[in-house]
Amino acid sequence: MSTFTASLPGGTWTLGGLEVSRFGYGAMQLAGPGVMGPPPDYDGALAILRDVVELGITHIDTAEAYGPHITNSLIREALHPYPGTLHVVTKVGSVRDDQGGWPPARKPDQLRRAVEENLETLGSDVLDLVNLRMGDGQGTVPGSPADALETLAELQQQGVIRHLGVSNVLPEQVAEARSIAPIVSVQNMYNLAFRRDDELIDSLAQDGIAYVPFFPLGGFSPLQSRALSAVAARRGSTPMSVALAWLLQRSPNILLIPGTSSVAHLRENVAGAGLVLSAEDVAELDAIGG
Ligand SMILES: NC(=O)c1ccc[n+]([C@@H]2O[C@H](COP(=O)([O-])OP(=O)(O)OC[C@H]3O[C@@H](n4cnc5c(N)ncnc54)[C@H](OP(=O)(O)O)[C@@H]3O)[C@@H](O)[C@H]2O)c1
Repeated sequence: MSTFTASLPGGTWTLGGLEVSRFGYGAMQLAGPGVMGPPPDYDGALAILRDVVELGITHIDTAEAYGPHITNSLIREALHPYPGTLHVVTKVGSVRDDQGGWPPARKPDQLRRAVEENLETLGSDVLDLVNLRMGDGQGTVPGSPADALETLAELQQQGVIRHLGVSNVLPEQVAEARSIAPIVSVQNMYNLAFRRDDELIDSLAQDGIAYVPFFPLGGFSPLQSRALSAVAARRGSTPMSVALAWLLQRSPNILLIPGTSSVAHLRENVAGAGLVLSAEDVAELDAIGG
């Protein structure tokens, strides 16, 4: 059992009935280049996952589409049997094509198969939280989530899914999803420099729903900004730590899932995200995405 849990920055959040550390881990980039195939350093990837748990992180974000199958299999190999405190969150709604694209796969039979595959590759009888990923490989796309969500709600009633979330969604799709089934989290692209969801975050916070920003550090092209570097230098921190601290401070319903394939970066991020930003720091950082 980890000795670090109590000191993880941000404390905890209850996702549905499940307590998770607000500082989580995004496992997508553990797969090979372009999120296809096995990682170049297989043992290193397993070591990161074990370090994640050792640090007291209890929220890992994944998907069967990562690799595909690779990231889930790594999680299983590194961590199964899972500690009771650990919650692995997965997503369905897109698959991979031969070119590494992310075509939608939201027909009922595709969703049922995706849930079965996740159960198998993760080695679980039940999935803690399944996000329905809408849109396409390029981003959000208008359209009703109703049919897909009804299929997932049936699977939830059958007992193979504990909680449901939505991802890559527009505010009106969140509203429609919430009218169909209880939604415990929304996972969308958001970071210091990309703040399209500011209003959505605030309204979800009022309703006790988690907002989980993907690409919290900028994704495949990590954030670079003169203002971010200036605040980091002034505070004796690093730009990535400041970007994570800003998110934790932005709203209590924000859960972090930064990705890294480096134990050193993981530890730097955990150590740095607890930085308490001053009002002056926040004003400078807010101007980046303004
Ligand atoms: N729902 C969706 O549609 C969707 C889409 C994309 C992602 N996601 C989820 O969101 C998670 C996070 O996204 P992400 O991993 O793509 O992007 P991210 O967390 O924004 O950034 C990861 C990148 O930042 C670098 N990095 C991390 N810590 C660093 C540090 N201390 N110093 C310098 N560089 C650092 C990593 O490189 P190193 O490996 O070298 O550290 C990696 O290239 C994913 O893992 C996935 O679970 C969901």
